[in-house]
Amino acid sequence: MHQDIKEILYTQSDIASRVEELGKRITADYKDCIDSGERLVAVCLLRGAALFMADIVRHIELPIEFDFMVVSSYGDSATSSGTIRIQKDLSCDIEGANVLIIEDVIDSGFTLSYLCKNLLSRNPSSIAIASLLRKDVEGQADVDCKYVGFECPNEFIVGYGLDFAQRYRNLPYIGTLKPEVYTNE
Ligand code: PRP
Repeated sequence: MHQDIKEILYTQSDIASRVEELGKRITADYKDCIDSGERLVAVCLLRGAALFMADIVRHIELPIEFDFMVVSSYGDSATSSGTIRIQKDLSCDIEGANVLIIEDVIDSGFTLSYLCKNLLSRNPSSIAIASLLRKDVEGQADVDCKYVGFECPNEFIVGYGLDFAQRYRNLPYIGTLKPEVYTNE
């Protein structure tokens, strides 16, 4: 796997420090909600955010519920509206809860733009997003992401949950892929 990486953008230790910082901010931001008896539900978007979820929740020092969704975009990639399908929905009811969406990367922004609208219709008390990465993409949908790990270039990146053709998710760092890897597929 390592030989397919062009450049490491964020090392294992960069990621660990940033995730810890975000977890501490989230702890401070939600302390009052929890103290007043409200629920905090972390919603992990599988599969890419699995590692980020596993790490960040261990830095959120509050009672927190876990839930998981699988969403995928489909249809004509030329369609600017982007269409998202829910393949696995939440198991819990989020009405009245504070929802924290845990995502690995915001690219076009369509996934989160759609998902926020969808989850808002279920009447949560609040929705916020924590995304490890936000790509610098022209025309990205307007997504209000409160917790961003790293603003990153619009390149083909893999590792720490992010894949290319379902590979490289288990790399402990995030790096760019050598172009010959994806052009030869
Ligand atoms: C990736 C990523 C985000 C989404 C971002 O998911 O994990 O969920 O795309 O793209 P967008 O901002 O353009 O909507 P993918 O569908 O590749 O699934 P995965 O999480 O299983 O890797």
